[in-house]
Amino acid sequence: MNPTPHIKTEGTSKFQIGEIRNNTIHYDFEKIKTYLNIKGHMLFGKNFRIYKEDEALFFKLCSYFIQDHHSCAQMGIDTSKGLLLTGPVGCGKTSLMKLLLHLAPHKTNYVFVPTRNIVFNFNTSGFEVLEKYNQTKNYCFDDLGVEPTGSHYAKECNVMGEILLSRYDLFTQTSQSLSFSQSLSFSFSQGHSHSKTHITTNLNVDEIEKKYGNRVRSRLRQMMNVIAFDSKSTDKRL
Ligand SMILES: Nc1ncnc2c1ncn2[C@@H]1O[C@H](COP(=O)(O)OP(=O)(O)OP(=O)(O)O)[C@@H](O)[C@H]1O
Ligand SMILES: [Mg+2]
Repeated sequence: MNPTPHIKTEGTSKFQIGEIRNNTIHYDFEKIKTYLNIKGHMLFGKNFRIYKEDEALFFKLCSYFIQDHHSCAQMGIDTSKGLLLTGPVGCGKTSLMKLLLHLAPHKTNYVFVPTRNIVFNFNTSGFEVLEKYNQTKNYCFDDLGVEPTGSHYAKECNVMGEILLSRYDLFTQTSQSLSFSQSLSFSFSQGHSHSKTHITTNLNVDEIEKKYGNRVRSRLRQMMNVIAFDSKSTDKRL
């Protein structure tokens, strides 16, 4: 375990993004912004910057990633659920979900997978691919809605629809076992007790229902916080 998760090292530079007091990290949002601006440059190139108009959304996401339960509750975000990040084409959803993985990996971590890759794997390997995501790991499914319908030996399958239904079962199972354990005062290490699912998508909830059905829509509402870019957000592609 990293004993100083509030100090980030990039090459020979160190960035202190918070202070430890009484065994708790008190994060400083301005310092987080400075660090993530630099990390964004390193990952996505010199044009990367945190846009002024995205700052409110960025603050919400940072609060979630550091699992600041108090701030999140004030903004209507449930830290025990995943995130559904929605917004227009090119507004920066995928980049943010990749960037924020570097903020507090001891608190929020997931395997990042484009939905198109999942369907391509399904088309070659078949139904065993669905099993892979039915595991107690956290996932971020990138670009939900752009993937084609799966087809393995002429058997068609709404691959992401099926995966999301089984992720819901996993989420509710682990939620139940967590509250049971808490009632017995057992301590659980972060990350093992909950199977979280995160999504980036251009679709709004009505479009999700159209593509995956109302069973998926209703379950996503229970397992995720919807965080939306402004519908007028500009395309950041050059
Ligand atoms: N904050 C930013 N500053 C500068 N460039 C950015 C920023 N965010 C994203 N970009 C660039 O804009 C492009 C689109 O970003 P990204 O793929 O994250 O958007 P998206 O919302 O996931 O798009 P899509 O809806 O097509 O999936 C990329 O080339 C990325 O490097
Ligand atoms: Mg994207």
